[in-house]
Order: sequence, then C-alpha cells, then structure tokens
Amino acid sequence: MSAQPQPRRLENVQTDRGSVPVYATGTVEQPWDSYSAADHDVWRRLYARQREILPGRACDAFLRAQDAMGMTPDRIPKFSDLNAALGAATGWQIVGVEGLLPELDFFTHLANRRFPVSWWIRRADQIDYIEEPDLFHDLFGHVPLLMDPMFADYLEAYGKGGVKAHGFGPEALMQLARLYWYTVEFGLIRQPDGLRIYGAGIVSSKGESIHCLESAAPNRIGFDLERVMRTRYRIDTYQKTYFVIDSFEQLIEATLPDFAPLYARLAGQPEHAPEAVLPADRVLHAGTQQAD
Ligand code: PHE
Ligand code: FE
Repeated sequence: MSAQPQPRRLENVQTDRGSVPVYATGTVEQPWDSYSAADHDVWRRLYARQREILPGRACDAFLRAQDAMGMTPDRIPKFSDLNAALGAATGWQIVGVEGLLPELDFFTHLANRRFPVSWWIRRADQIDYIEEPDLFHDLFGHVPLLMDPMFADYLEAYGKGGVKAHGFGPEALMQLARLYWYTVEFGLIRQPDGLRIYGAGIVSSKGESIHCLESAAPNRIGFDLERVMRTRYRIDTYQKTYFVIDSFEQLIEATLPDFAPLYARLAGQPEHAPEAVLPADRVLHAGTQQAD
C-alpha cells in the first residue's frame, strides 16, 4: 500500500510579529485497509496493557477523553472517526504522516490545530520500545488530550510559539523543545487525589508509567518555565527529572507572555543537567538517581 504524499501547501500563520507564510508538508491519507491482522493485534495488546495500568496513574482528563473520543482496543481507529469527535470537542484534527516532520512543518500543523500522527504501527517484537514515534505513541499518547479545551489551546499556542521562535535562532528552538519534552511528552500533573501523568511519552510506555510515579530514582519538581527551558533531557533512558504542573491553566498562564525577552535573558546562560536539583526548586521528591 503506498501512501501518497500531498503537494506542499503554503499557508499563513499569525504570530505576534505578523503573518508568516509557511509550508505544511508530508501529510498522507491513513491507509486503513492496508493494516494487517498483526497490526490490529499490536494495537489491541498495547491498548489493553496500558489501560490496565493507567487508571490511578494517568490524569482523569486523559482517561475521560480517551473514552469520549471512541478509541477502542478492538482495532486500529480510523482517523476520520476520531476527527469527528475531536472536531466537535475542540476543532483539532489528526493528519497522517510518514514519520517525524521538519520542525517548522510540525509547528505549523500545531498552530493550525492539526496533530501529525504516524500512520504505521510498530511490529510485535517492538512492543516495549521503539525509537521513532509510531501510531500507538501518537494516537494513544497524544491525541486524547486534544479533546481537553485547555490542553488544546496550549498546544496551538505552542505551535505558534514555535513558528515565531524560528526568528530567534537555534538556542530559542532548543529551549522550546525542552518545554515540549517536559510537558507534552513527559509532564506530570497534581490532582486532588495525587500525582498523575499527562505526558504522551509516559502514557504510551508501560515501564515509564510506573517508574515516573513509583520509583525513588527520578526527581519530581514543581514546574517553572525558565527552569524547564534550561534543563537538558535524556532520550536514551527514563527521565531523570519530571516537572509537575498544578493544572493546565498554570501551563497556559506561564507560557502566555511574549517569549522574546525570555529568549534574550536566557541566551548564553548555563544549562542544567537532566538530574540536577537546584536551591530554588520546589522539590516534591529528590531522586536517588539509582537504578531500580
Ligand atoms: N508565548 C510564547 C511566545 O511568545 C508562545 C508559546 C506559547 C510558547 C505556549 C510555548 C507554549 O513565544
Ligand atoms: Fe510524542
């Protein structure tokens, strides 16, 4: 089955520095009929395994949204079905992609409330770990929270911020990438009944879903925008530090101001190591950083 790339599309993105023309590339139609029984089975196994451990670990907004949008274990969902629910809830849409997009294309999709989802799913021998984001990570991990009005607004704002950050150079883009990493991918949130996961990189991983909440190894530190933007991250292990927000409102408020002065202030300042604990941190748990 060949998924046909569509032609490059030129579109305008509104930023607070004006309207910027950008290309959105590489979207493909989900080749749903080409999924094999083995593909559907990988989805079913991963879905069942995660939903067994996520109650009491994933935040309520995530679990509620996943049910509300009609994702089920029995077969790989059709993007068109999910888009009907998403469109009605927040106006977000899923677009199929072959894999990771160039950064500016990715930001442009988000700025227009489109979330790129890899159309292909990992093989059965990759159940526990895969390097690239596949359909399970993208769809199961990222898409449910697009049903949440607050999170939906945050991600759109992030996309616009990304388009704008291109005018500020590689250091600004790196800082913005860290914000994405420590929130959208690996964020924790404080609920009245305890810490919960909202990051897609965690909820799509059995090992890290347990590790991030139950292990003594990693730091759990209250979210602080500048702190996060200065902190390097690991891509080869579970995270050494998780940043905890109190609410999606907090995230929106913290990231609402113009980042231009922030990029200027942060330029050339030292970075923090992934496992650092700093005097100014609101420490919920100081990690042992020992293997467990
Ligand atoms: N307020 C940021 C800016 O002016 C944009 C942004 C919003 C970035 C949300 C990240 C997350 O650049
Ligand atoms: Fe992701």
